[in-house]
Parts: sequence; C-alpha cells; structure tokens
Amino acid sequence: MLSNTIVLDARDLHEKSLGLRFALPALGEFATGFVVRYHGKAHAYINQCAHVPVELDWNQGEFFTVSKDYLICATHGAHYQPDTGHCIMGPCKGKSLQALPVTEQNHQITIHIDQLHKLHHKIK
Ligand code: FES
Repeated sequence: MLSNTIVLDARDLHEKSLGLRFALPALGEFATGFVVRYHGKAHAYINQCAHVPVELDWNQGEFFTVSKDYLICATHGAHYQPDTGHCIMGPCKGKSLQALPVTEQNHQITIHIDQLHKLHHKIK
C-alpha cells in the first residue's frame, strides 16, 4: 500500500537553496515532487512544468533562479513564484505548478499526498 505522507528532515532544507526531491509513485514510476524553503516556509509541488510535463530541474534540486526570487524551469525558462507556484513569466504564464500540502514541525517536513492518490484513482 502507498503511504499518504512523505517525511523529510527539515534541517536539510535551506532558505532559497537546493530543493529536496522525492518520488511520487502514485503518479507513475518516475514521477517526482520537490520542496523548497522560501521566506522561512516550506512549499511543495509536483515536479512537472505547467508548459510541457517535464521536471523543472536539470541539475537535481536546482529550482531557484540565480537571483533566488523565483523557481525556474530549466527547459524553456518559465518563472514561478516560490510560495504560490504561479507562473509569472514564460510560455505557461498564468498557469501554476500543482502544489502539495506541506506541514513542518519538530524538524520534520511532512508532505501530504493522500489527495494525490484520490486524484490518480479518478484518472485511472
Ligand atoms: S517545459 Fe518548462 S518552460 Fe517549457
């Protein structure tokens, strides 16, 4: 049975730095998600660009732009707001990354993927 949560060590997630990737088998064998820290808060998304369904990071974990103000898709450069996942520049401007609910306490980041399973079952 698939787990409904993914738990990561919060001490591994630094402000506007490398994101943490995790597998999302509910969405397929190679599907991944990621979490980044922005303004102190953890934000998690499915690792799939709103333009073409590819992963955002060419170099694993590198989601931020050089200025660290936005998340960027390495393929065509779409810029996303780190806290909302909203695309503000690029070929998918106006669309959004698919956010995953995330909570943080006691040095643990918990990503809640129970809705993902339901979604996937509906699609199947
Ligand atoms: S695939 Fe991400 S911007 Fe085109």
